[in-house]
Amino acid sequence: MKKVLITGVAGFVGFHLAKKLQDKFIICGLDFFYPVVDSINAQRLTHLGSSVKFTHSDIRNYDELLKTIKLIKPDFIIHLAACTGVANSALQPELYFDTNVKGFQNILEICKELKIDNLFYASSSSVYNDNETMVFNEENVSENQLSFYGITKRKNEKLAEEYSLQYGINCVGMRFFTVYGSWVRQDMAAWKFMNALIKNEQVILYNGGNVQRDFTHVSDIVESISRLVESYLHEQLKFIHEIYNVGKGSPVSVKEYLLTIAENLGVKPEIIYKPLPENELPFTHSDTTKLFSKTGYKPQLSVHEGVKEMTDWFLKYRHQNE
Ligand SMILES: NC(=O)c1ccc[n+]([C@@H]2O[C@H](COP(=O)([O-])OP(=O)(O)OC[C@H]3O[C@@H](n4cnc5c(N)ncnc54)[C@H](O)[C@@H]3O)[C@@H](O)[C@H]2O)c1
Repeated sequence: MKKVLITGVAGFVGFHLAKKLQDKFIICGLDFFYPVVDSINAQRLTHLGSSVKFTHSDIRNYDELLKTIKLIKPDFIIHLAACTGVANSALQPELYFDTNVKGFQNILEICKELKIDNLFYASSSSVYNDNETMVFNEENVSENQLSFYGITKRKNEKLAEEYSLQYGINCVGMRFFTVYGSWVRQDMAAWKFMNALIKNEQVILYNGGNVQRDFTHVSDIVESISRLVESYLHEQLKFIHEIYNVGKGSPVSVKEYLLTIAENLGVKPEIIYKPLPENELPFTHSDTTKLFSKTGYKPQLSVHEGVKEMTDWFLKYRHQNE
């Protein structure tokens, strides 16, 4: 069995990905967080149990990271560790730069140094901006990201391009579109909505609720990653850098998303409206053609199906953590 290193394995996507790949690969994971016992990251790790060989390591620290990865000796890496979220990136640009750009370059340098030929990494729909076509196509990205977070993700793509060209590392970038599902991050709208609704608190919607997001269930995200990995590992190409949108391809308004969550929780939402922050996109819409032609897969779950999985989990999680 080949050995994969998943960075950010205690995160929302990393957790689901480790579970998805555990029958196909030996899973090693690294993450860096303060070991607060009740944090959701620690809980995700507990649920993964011994299926993952876990190492606590900071991707910003090159020497420590090199030592860790030398010991793990992975056949390939799936890099998900990052500072996430658009809003926070405006408040902590230095931390985002160190983690997302310098940390990513550390991973690339280590792939070069240890001759790890295949790197799959998370990018984001935040690299697009709304001056482009309505449907976001991989080739059609401008250099004017709206958020600092989007800038760091675009920088990753450029670094990957260069390292692939110069050193023959195969890099596959995946632009995820608004991921949701069980074990969702607590800074994301999905969590904030569920948490506010269940406590009968007000919910904030931007732009009259008329913001469109291409919500993609986490099971579709990890199925797509798994298929991309299988496909590239079999082909054994060299000097490849390809980028794929990983999104559902059918945007839904945030208001409809909220109402679906509220319906599943059996709560009537009390909404307050605010203007859309300048660093947020008014819509996202993934062109899924490239992902489908490479993997034969198109994300499947509708928001109605996906939200049910998420709210069922939320109610159980809340009950256990009260
Ligand atoms: N969730 C989404 O909607 C979404 C959308 C687009 C892109 N992405 C990208 O997908 C990836 C996974 O996202 P997620 O939602 O699982 O986020 P997450 O925040 O749940 O996971 C990221 C993980 O990285 C870890 N991390 C942060 N700094 C680190 C460091 N210095 N060293 C080691 N680990 C560190 C965090 O502890 C966390 O567990 C990220 O790269 C994110 O930018 C996510």
